[in-house]
Amino acid sequence: MATEQPTGANARGHTPVRVAATGDVHCARERTKEVEAALADVSDRADMLLLAGDLTTHGEPDEAAALAAICHRLEIPVFAVLGNHDCHAGRPTEVIGRLEQGGIRVLGGDSATIKVAGQSVGIAGTKGFVGGFAGSSHLSDFGEPALRELYRLAGCEVEALDGALREIALCQIRIVLLHYSPTGDTLVGEPPGIWTFLGTDRLAAPIVEHEPDLVVHGHAHVGSFEGAVAGVPVYNVSIPVMRRGYHTFELSAQERTAATLR
Ligand SMILES: [Fe+2]
Ligand SMILES: [Fe+2]
Repeated sequence: MATEQPTGANARGHTPVRVAATGDVHCARERTKEVEAALADVSDRADMLLLAGDLTTHGEPDEAAALAAICHRLEIPVFAVLGNHDCHAGRPTEVIGRLEQGGIRVLGGDSATIKVAGQSVGIAGTKGFVGGFAGSSHLSDFGEPALRELYRLAGCEVEALDGALREIALCQIRIVLLHYSPTGDTLVGEPPGIWTFLGTDRLAAPIVEHEPDLVVHGHAHVGSFEGAVAGVPVYNVSIPVMRRGYHTFELSAQERTAATLR
């Protein structure tokens, strides 16, 4: 799964789709050259680019515009979800607007479908949210209204991911794009005391149900690259974790009909 080397057509005659993914680019005007360099050759090495949130440093629209200008020059489609940093200035709608002006498709609890070499690729994207993991500090739907509101909002993200995965159920390749992690696997390296704020295993439920081909997320800057949810590969593509600008995954098409769904 985690490969950088393109290969030939698979047994069904499909050429693998090359999916580049990165997260936590934290763009800002003063970081433009650094981000540009990180993505310099991505159009040659991938069929699409996924941005797993924390696109900006402080969620300012001009930071989003700087990233949009870089992505506008790429020759492949770009898909993104927001991260917590992109919400910090309280201007997420303007941030999304600037990103979309650069041709970036921003997913927020919905999906996109494209054709790559005749193969349908579906991307289900949402930011995700906090909540923690079984065996550590799991937030529950109990007590003060503020804490219960966090629990409710995380539940909205889970429902949105489930709905987005249903939308792309018949795509030959299905990808989940998140900012927060659905598993503790890719948080190993982070202090256990902050795992509650790095994701939640509640996001794993729709992944278990729909079995996408690939899940990528960011946010955990000192976590681990590779993990899984019930056999579904999950990768933390945060730049500080990967120590490179992006990683390219190769995915092969699966034939799906309504009868094969569950
Ligand atoms: Fe980040
Ligand atoms: Fe983040």
